[in-house]
Amino acid sequence: MTKETLTVTDNRTGRTYELPIMDGAIRAMDLRQIKVNDDDFGLMSYDPAFKNSASTKSTITYIDGDKGILHYRGYPIEQLAEKCTYLEVAYLIMYGELPTQEQLSKWENEITYHTLLHENIKQLFEAFRYDAHPMGMLISNIAALSTFYPEAKNVDDPEIREVQIKRLIAKMPTLAAMAYRFSMGFPINYPDNDLTYTGNFLNMMFKMVEPRYRPHPVLQRALDVLFILHADHEQNCGTNAMRSVGSSRVDPYSAMAAAAAALYGPLHGGANEQVLRMLTAIGSVKNIPAYVERVKAGEFRLMGFGHRVYKNYDPRATIIKEIADQVFQVTGRNPLLDIALELERIALEDDYFVGRKLYPNVDFYSGIIYQAMGLPVAMFPVMFAIPRTVGWLAQWVEMLVDKEQAIARPRQIYLGHGRREFLPIEQRG
Ligand code: ACO
Repeated sequence: MTKETLTVTDNRTGRTYELPIMDGAIRAMDLRQIKVNDDDFGLMSYDPAFKNSASTKSTITYIDGDKGILHYRGYPIEQLAEKCTYLEVAYLIMYGELPTQEQLSKWENEITYHTLLHENIKQLFEAFRYDAHPMGMLISNIAALSTFYPEAKNVDDPEIREVQIKRLIAKMPTLAAMAYRFSMGFPINYPDNDLTYTGNFLNMMFKMVEPRYRPHPVLQRALDVLFILHADHEQNCGTNAMRSVGSSRVDPYSAMAAAAAALYGPLHGGANEQVLRMLTAIGSVKNIPAYVERVKAGEFRLMGFGHRVYKNYDPRATIIKEIADQVFQVTGRNPLLDIALELERIALEDDYFVGRKLYPNVDFYSGIIYQAMGLPVAMFPVMFAIPRTVGWLAQWVEMLVDKEQAIARPRQIYLGHGRREFLPIEQRG
């Protein structure tokens, strides 16, 4: 009969240990009993960048990186992207089930109710330099929101948590649009509560002097799909930051500022910005082979390619490619698309990329669509942070109510000096 255990023999001592296997994992703490003597701290596992360590159990998002599968709460991303609005999926991610019509209407109303920001936030924006990066402004203002809602620090009160969740989901598009309008020197647009979540976002971004902004239905729908695709992605760098910082029991605004800061990095949500800069730098299809050679020589990475988890085509990239066509019918074709398609074709035939299982990720095509919609490149990470808000919040709540979780605090392997005596400055060197 097979047993769900792992037998380990410590060759230093000859002792054998039997460790339980649960859900395909052993508990790192079970290794601590493995000691050479009573003074020994016990065995640890060493896993820089968490390449093979589960930090949590979760019921939110499922990824099979080898097969290119992504599910939210059990539903395939392809079905959700085709049939749902972003707020419907946000409800699913947050509460675990798709909403009934009644639940959805209530949820939409509640989110709409919270879209306005305190007027002082405008002054915070005005304190930035005229050319401030919108993501820097967004991160700062997410953190600033904690000062407007001091009750948010009661993270163990489910009712207080609920209000902050709705506030954050509602206010992120308003903050994002403000960052854009400020960086363009345009007057701020207030929310129009008759519009949908994504329609209102387009309104706050692009309304100029017309009395009423009417979002283009194709662009509004494309934005819904893009937001659905970016809503959660299990334990990535930003989500890990949300959980890790949130584990100190800080308020969700402060924890989410940390998550957004993690997302900003060029290896994470900032990659969509880097992709656009890369495609612009390549400039023409004829320059691609030389560019790919430089990537292979290790000069730089092909941005928008590769993923820690996906070792197959990122399913989100497939869906994004489809909606790109619909958007381009409205906006006109982005000429960078030809460079992107040819770059993908060449890379997917090249042994360097094939051998390392490097495929286009979600960021490879999203920037091309956002640019066609009229968004400046610096806004791309902001466009990622808006929909990821719900993922961060769902993961944050899951962490807070998980009795096994505690303040996140990894161990280290100390390789520095042993104890040594202090030297007065004149005796050094
Ligand atoms: N271009 C060229 N080579 C690459 C790339 C790339 N984009 N990505 C990985 N490689 C190579 C590495 O050099 C390494 O090669 P080696 O074995 O010869 O040393 C091998 O592939 C494995 O790469 P790792 O860095 O070990 O993979 P890891 O899982 O740590 O990194 C990451 C994943 C950060 C996404 C990486 O693929 C990358 O830097 N991609 C470009 C940035 C990007 O698009 N990020 C967005 C990811 S999606 C998201 O965050 C929303």
